[in-house]
Order: sequence, then C-alpha cells, then structure tokens
Amino acid sequence: MNQIKIILYALLSTFLFQSCRPEHTVQPDDGIAQKVEALLSRMTLEEKVGQMNQYSSFYDVTGPAPSDGKLKLKYEHLKKGLVGSMLNVNGVKEVREFQKLAVENSRLGIPLIFGFDVIHGHKTLAPIPLAEAASWDLEAIRRSAEVAATEAAAMGINWTFAPMIDITRDARWGRVMEGSGEDPYLGTQIGVARVNGFQGNDLSSVHTLAACAKHLAGYGFSEAGKEYNTVDMSTSTLFNVVLPPFKAAVEEANVKTVMNAFNIMNGVPSTGNAFLQRDILKGRWGFDGFVISDWGSIKEIESHGMAANLKETAMIAANAGSDMDMESYAYVTHLADLVEEGLVSEDKIDEAVRRILTVKYELGLFDDPYKYCNEEREKELLYHPDHLEAVLDMARKSIVLLKNEGDLLPLKRDQKGIAVIGTLASDKNSPLGNWRLGSDNNTAVSVLEGLDTYCTYTYAKGADLSTGIEVFNQDLTINTSDKSGFKEAVTLAKNAEIVIMVLGEHGMMSGEARSRTQIDIPGVQQDLLEAVYEVNKNIVLVLMNGRPLAIPWAAEHIPAIVEAWQLGTQSGHAVADILFGRYNPSGKLPMSFPRSVGQCPIYYNYFRTGRPGPRNEVFFSRYIDEDRTPLYPFGYGLSYSKFDYSNLVIDDSDQKRIKVAVQVSNVSDTDGEEVVQLYINDKAASIVRPVKELKGFEKIALKAKTSQTVTFELTDKELGFYDPNGDYKVESGMFDVMVGTSSTDGLTGSFQLK
Ligand code: GLC
Repeated sequence: MNQIKIILYALLSTFLFQSCRPEHTVQPDDGIAQKVEALLSRMTLEEKVGQMNQYSSFYDVTGPAPSDGKLKLKYEHLKKGLVGSMLNVNGVKEVREFQKLAVENSRLGIPLIFGFDVIHGHKTLAPIPLAEAASWDLEAIRRSAEVAATEAAAMGINWTFAPMIDITRDARWGRVMEGSGEDPYLGTQIGVARVNGFQGNDLSSVHTLAACAKHLAGYGFSEAGKEYNTVDMSTSTLFNVVLPPFKAAVEEANVKTVMNAFNIMNGVPSTGNAFLQRDILKGRWGFDGFVISDWGSIKEIESHGMAANLKETAMIAANAGSDMDMESYAYVTHLADLVEEGLVSEDKIDEAVRRILTVKYELGLFDDPYKYCNEEREKELLYHPDHLEAVLDMARKSIVLLKNEGDLLPLKRDQKGIAVIGTLASDKNSPLGNWRLGSDNNTAVSVLEGLDTYCTYTYAKGADLSTGIEVFNQDLTINTSDKSGFKEAVTLAKNAEIVIMVLGEHGMMSGEARSRTQIDIPGVQQDLLEAVYEVNKNIVLVLMNGRPLAIPWAAEHIPAIVEAWQLGTQSGHAVADILFGRYNPSGKLPMSFPRSVGQCPIYYNYFRTGRPGPRNEVFFSRYIDEDRTPLYPFGYGLSYSKFDYSNLVIDDSDQKRIKVAVQVSNVSDTDGEEVVQLYINDKAASIVRPVKELKGFEKIALKAKTSQTVTFELTDKELGFYDPNGDYKVESGMFDVMVGTSSTDGLTGSFQLK
C-alpha cells in the first residue's frame, strides 16, 4: 500500500510541480520528483529534521576538529546527517572538507547546500545594490549578479542570500544600501533581473547560484529606520508596496528560496507567520522552493513574546512554513519530539524536506556533491578581467550627477591646479561598501588611483573620518573633533584652480545594524567643506555614501555634486571617468534625498491627504520649519547632455493597451543616455492611490542633436492595485499620466479608463 501511495504522490507532485511552474523556466529533470520521494521514503524522522537545519561555519576545517561544547555538537551533527546546509563557508578547500564530513560519514550521504551573502559581488565587488539601482539599467544589473554568481560558485558556494528586495523609504535605516530604494515597480524589475543573473537558466551549472528573495516581509519599514524595530503597516501597503517584488521573484523569475524577516507583520513574527509563508507565498503564488529563516529568527519568536521557550518557537515556525532553521538550533533540538507529540505533523516536515531536496537535486549536488569544488576554476575566475570590466561598467552607470552649475564638469583633460581633499579619496576599503564578507580588504581602486590615469594633483586628507576598528561586527568611532589636518587642506585649496572633495560615509556606516539618527555628511567633514569653500569656491563634491544624505548646505553652495555611492572594486576608475567625461553620467535616484532627517520617511509615491495644500493659511499637510519636498526627488539625475521632451501623445482607443508616446531630443553637443520615466495617478479609486506611481521606464542612448520617440503601453498590469484583501482590481475612471526625466519633471496628460 505504501509503495502505491508513494508512486501516486510522486505522480501527483510531478503534475503539481509541472503545473504551477511558470512556463518559461527550464523544465527540471522530470526524474527529480521521483528521486526526492524515493529518498524521503528512506529517511528517518531525525534525518528529515537534519535537512531543515543550517549552521554557520564554525571552525577552520583545515585545522583540528572541535573537541568540546557547541562546536563539537555541530561537528557531530554534520557527521550524523543532522545538518542540511552550511553558511559562511568560503573557498573550495573548506567547502570540500565540510561536504566530505556530511557525505562520507552520514547514513544516506545527502550533500550539503552551501549558502553565503553574495550581495554585490563576491571577490570582484560591484557597486552596492542601491547604487546599482541608480543605473536603472536592468541588463547591467543582471550581468553584475551573473558575475557575482560565477565567482561565488567558483568558490564552492551554491546559494546566495540575495537579492534583498525590501522596499524602504527611510534613509536612517542602514540596510537601504542593500536594496533598490523606495519604489515597488523599479524594485520589482531589479529584483527579477538580479534573480535571473544569479540563477541563469540552468541551476545545475557551476556558474550559477540558487537565489534568495529576502526578507519576507516588510523589514524595510522598520519604524523610524531603527534596525530590527517594530513594523506596523496596512494590508494595502503590504500588498501594493512590499509584496510586488516578492511576487515577481517567484512568478516571473522562479526564485528558488525566500528568506523571512526579523520583524513582526500584523503582530506575528514573519518567521512564524503562516499568512505570509503559507497563505501568500506557497498558496496564492505557488512558490515551490524553500523558506530559510533569518539568522536566529526562529528562536527570536520567544524574544518577540510569542513563545515560552525554544521548543514552542520550533513548533510555531514549522507550522507556519519556515522550512530551514538558520542558527537557532530550534529544529534540530525539538522538531522530532514535536512530531512525536503530534504538535507538528510529519506531513509538514516532509513538505519542507521535499522542497529542500528538490533544490539540491536541481543544483546537481546529488550527481556530484563536489562539482562546485574545483581549484583550477577558482583560481581562473576570481577577479577575472571580464568581471572587472563588468563591474566598472556597472559603477559608471550607477553614478548620479546631482548638480553641475556652469557646466563645471566634465573637467578638461589638460586641467591644471587640481587639489584633492578628503580621506575617502585615498580609502581603498569604504568604496567596497558593507556586505562584502567574501571579498578582500583594501581592494578598491581609490579615487586618487583613478585620477592618476587622468591628471596630476595635490592631495590632503583634511581629517580622519573614523578612528575606530573598521570590521563587520564592530562599531566605528567617528572623528567629531580632530581638525588638525584642516590647515594643510585649506592651504592646498587656496593655491588650486579647482578642488575635488571626496566626502561621505565610511563603508561600515550603512548595512545591517547601522541605522543613523542623522543623515548628514558625518564627523568634521562638513566643517572641512565649508573651510575649503572659504578660500576656493570652485569645488566638485564627490559623495561616497550608503544611503541618501541630507546635504542642504552643499546643494546651495557647491557648484558640482556627484553621487558616487560605494562603487565596489573599480570605484576610483568610475569616478574619474565621470569627472573627466569619458562616461557621461546617466544615473537617476532610486530614493528621495531629504532636506533634513526630520522629513524621513520621505518618498515620491505618497498619498495626497485631505489637505494637500498649499493654502493661504496654515492648515495643510506640511512642516512649519522645513519645506515638504525632498532636496532631490526620486528619479532625478543630470547629464552632460541636455534632453528635451515634446509631443506627448496618449492613445486610449484600445482600452486594453493604452499607448503613451513621447519624443525625447538630445539638444546638446554631447552624446548621452536618458532614463525616460512614465508615472500614473489613478485620480479616484475605491482606495486612495499615490499621487504618482512609476509604471514604466526606458533607458535610451541619444547621440547629440538627435531625437527618438519612446512608447509605453499601459495594461491592466500597470493600471490596477490590490485592495486590502489582496485582491487585484482595475477600476474605470480618470488617470493622469506624466512622462519625463524624473518624478517631478515631465509632460502631463490624462485618459479615461472606461
Ligand atoms: C543576517 C541578515 C540576512 C543574512 C543572514 C546571513 O542577519 O539579516 O540578510 O542573509 O543574516 O548572514
């Protein structure tokens, strides 16, 4: 009877597996479902639970095995097949040793899957994801993820905990550097591009990784931008802003894993949230991969106040659809007992293990557990010239020109009398950004090194930015008082024709656990900028930062401002190429830049409110001490070219495909690129809709003195929204349309949807 059941289940799961997969994915080897069932039927309950257990690398595997305590326990669990995955193992040699421990000692020899935070490159680093988002170049972003996957897979890794697709509107939050900014449409397109870049079209290739859409859900809405803080939002915001990137990652990009979040959603920790994980992700969307918890988030269900002990956290998380436990020890300690006690059904264990084993089969790990372990390939591919070229291209495209008064930029190739000031100009670490655990320190091309290929200059750091330790898990000590270097810097500036100032944040001032209450240029750098300005106003400010900064003084006084984020390995070359015009800046802001931190959260797609104002009296939505608009809006970015928009035409004759066309002309003498953006406003709907919503963009290259007509189509997919129950609605009525160069600058029109 059991055999028949297994065959029936295998046939049914094959049918379900096939029927709910999106059409365009590479169909998996049909035998996988059967192989999974056959293996599952041989596994003991403890071995099944083992697959749901993930440990972080815990010892130098080339050294002696751990001999006591928790590390010994982890080591023993590995050998008994009670570990399904490892994270933070880096390098073919280490991966092979851990894999051997599991495969050659456990009863069934089930291979481990190795996960790692490959966030913006592995050895060769791309710009931080927020910078990449500023490129609005989906192919460059896909390619960047592909390069990251190639290098990580060459080091034995099969799975990245990326892309982070948390929409966020608060620059105080440190992890804005890791995502794609404030807009769900842009964030969705970029998330799909990144998953496709990581996963390619063959998961069993030794150049691809299983991707991980994270963090489900709402982490980017941490209250007040404070890290790991409470999240509280309407279902309308959940369905219309937070979930679209996840839905697309599952339905369009077939992402193989999803990571849940530290925060609560509607009062329930995401890790123990059946609504998010079972109803929405696995139910409505038909997600067929597996869910990994975030670091320790299962045991944190107790800290949140929803469980009395670790055992209860395991019960809640397993029943809610959290398939694998990252570093809580909850599952490996309690799940088998919970099944024996009838508090977690073995069906749920089988479902989780099926999902995990399926991904391992698709990665080819059962065919050859050591297929990703090849020292020659590792040596050949890390820092490969093609990868360095790809991340340089990505970095150039990520830079945003914020101001260029009097066309101070680009600098002439024969420019003399250049002074460079700022400690970040010589910094080879900060430009790498945070979330670069797999790479090597001091491997960024500094701005000075980039400038060396163009010009001679004098240099002074002016002041230290940080005086503390600069590593992943330590706090920084920011210099807020030592101005002893100012004199030297001011003297250089006084004698210079032009001053390039490189100011901003240390690479470890953003990222996880790096929320700030201020978003100014930190330390004494603002004082340095003003001191230099006193003696020479001819300043090009190059910003290096992991979040939007409030720079009202610079915006008012400094003639040229370049947003250079943290651009990764090729940072200095990209900055120099922009300053000297080898590349014409084309980036557009993926997040609004506030005038002051008091405006946070600030974003372009806000709701109008009942008192949008302005009025000739005080009673409308505003501040009495600050303008209510951002300093630089979403979608904003200048070019050395000049683009004119004309002839906006809206054709609503085909109500299923509203056509919007606009002519874009490059009226300058410089070839350039422009991101043409289309926004809509649903004027009156059954729930209020944002004053603007990005619903299309196209990055075009336009030679000097040429024009191009850009056409968009608006269908139900663009015109609808989710009601508070999560049901998608398209309603008739008036729609305003704006097509332009930013979220605040374009041609407007409207149409009636009948
Ligand atoms: C961290 C992060 C998560 C990351 C994981 C593993 O706490 O929240 O994004 O992938 O732990 O490093």
